[in-house]
Amino acid sequence: MAGFSQSSSLIWIYRFTSIMALLAGVCLGGSDSPRGVSLPFVFDLKAVCDPPCRHAGICIRNSTCLCSRGYEGETCQYANCDPKCKNGGACLRPGKCRCPSGLGGKYCEKVACDGGCWNGGECIVVNGHAKCICPSSWTGSKCQEAICPQGCQNGGSCVAPGICSCPEGWLGGACHNAVCKKPCLNGGKCVSPDKCRCRTTFSGLQCEDRKKLF
Ligand SMILES: *[C@@H]1O[C@H](CO)[C@@H](O)[C@H](O)[C@H]1NC(C)=O
Repeated sequence: MAGFSQSSSLIWIYRFTSIMALLAGVCLGGSDSPRGVSLPFVFDLKAVCDPPCRHAGICIRNSTCLCSRGYEGETCQYANCDPKCKNGGACLRPGKCRCPSGLGGKYCEKVACDGGCWNGGECIVVNGHAKCICPSSWTGSKCQEAICPQGCQNGGSCVAPGICSCPEGWLGGACHNAVCKKPCLNGGKCVSPDKCRCRTTFSGLQCEDRKKLF
C-alpha cells in the first residue's frame, strides 16, 4: 500500500510539473494578470508545509497541501470514506470505518441487536446504540414480553398480546372470574375458587340451605 501511494504521488508530481511548465509559458506573456488566483493550481516547488502534509499529500504552496485521494483536512490528516460511514461510524482510513458497538458491515450500515429482536421487533440505532423497537403489543429489550392492556389478575400471566394464562380456579380475559365447580345456588355469587357468597337468607357451601327465620 505504501509503495502504491508513493508511486501515485510521483505521478502527481510529474503531472504538476508538466502543468507548471505549461503555465509558466502562458504567464510569461501577460505579467500583469494576478497570480495564484484564477489558476487551478499554483505549484511552488519551494513551498514549505509545516506541519507537513500527511498521507502522501503534496505541498503545493506554503502551508497548503494537495491531498491524495481519500484524505482531506489542512494537512490531509483526515481519512475520508466514500460512501460515508453510517450510523456514527468513524472513518479510519479510506474505505475503512470503525463502527459503534452493535453495528457492522463495511460502512456500519448493518445493525445487529444482541440476541435479536423477537415478535416482529426492528433493530435500529438510537444514539449510536443498537436497540429493538417493538410492535405496540410487545415490550422488553428483545420485545420478548407481551402486553395485556386489561391486566392479568389473581396470579395470571400475560402470555401473548391481550391473552392471560390464568391459574386454576380463575377464568376470563383478565383472570377476574372465579370458578366454583359446584354452582352457587339461590342467587349466590362465586367470589373466589369454590367459594360462594350467599344472599342473606341462604347459607351452605352452595347456598343450598334456607336460613330459618325465627
Ligand atoms: C514560503 O515560505 C518560505 C519560508 O517560510 C519563504 O522564504 C518564502 O518566501 C515563502 N514563499 C511564498 C511564496 O510566500
